Amino acid sequence: MIMATPHISAEKGDFAKTVLMPGDPLRAKFIADTFLKDVRQVTGVRGMLGFTGTYEGRPISVMGSGMGMPSIGIYSYELYKFYDVDNIIRIGSAGSYTDKAKLFDVVLAAGAVSESNYARVQSGFEGDLTLPSQTLNDKLRASAAKQGIPLIEGNIHSSDVFYRQPSDEKPTYWEKLRDERGCLCVEMESFALFANAQVLGKNAACLLTISDSFVSPEITTAEQRQTSFTNMMKVALGAEY
Ligand code: ADE
Repeated sequence: MIMATPHISAEKGDFAKTVLMPGDPLRAKFIADTFLKDVRQVTGVRGMLGFTGTYEGRPISVMGSGMGMPSIGIYSYELYKFYDVDNIIRIGSAGSYTDKAKLFDVVLAAGAVSESNYARVQSGFEGDLTLPSQTLNDKLRASAAKQGIPLIEGNIHSSDVFYRQPSDEKPTYWEKLRDERGCLCVEMESFALFANAQVLGKNAACLLTISDSFVSPEITTAEQRQTSFTNMMKVALGAEY
């Protein structure tokens, strides 16, 4: 059946029930080429590539979300609403606000705190915390435990702004998010993803690798980055959705 949405050119049935979403579409291609079998590209509007294949015999899709809440808001809404996707797991990177989440640790989001207007505008939701699916989080925890991969769990901050103007305010905005709201790290998408899942009755979760730190800037190697990315992928792919 011919079907497309404004931002996705796939046909109905082209996506698996579970979609992994990295921000970068070329990362989606890399994941499909490296980890999946029987892969086919199912969409590519504006270069936002999406693929469907199998992992250990089970169908799974992977598609870029772009950066920021407007972008993941569009793609995740269309996947849930028009392509009958049930589960979206964001797989991304984040900047750490605390020593509890060290470079290359893998974080499982317990909730996403945000100053974003996304949920208010989208559905009238007035809160500043949206939550992932407990069922998906249980599956991701089980996958990590089975493979001996440590997961750090806590709230994350979904920010609308990557480049903030420097400020002398003490404590800093990120220390307040850490100390008052339990935010381990910052990324830019999950609040909107969780909000969409909530209003559409679907499931969302978020796994992050720590790529940079607000508390202890360190030099990192490509090998370290690759290992932590692989661990996150093992957790995401090893779960039985
Ligand atoms: N993703 C990775 N590092 C980040 C940062 N410092 N801020 C926002 N999103 C990020």
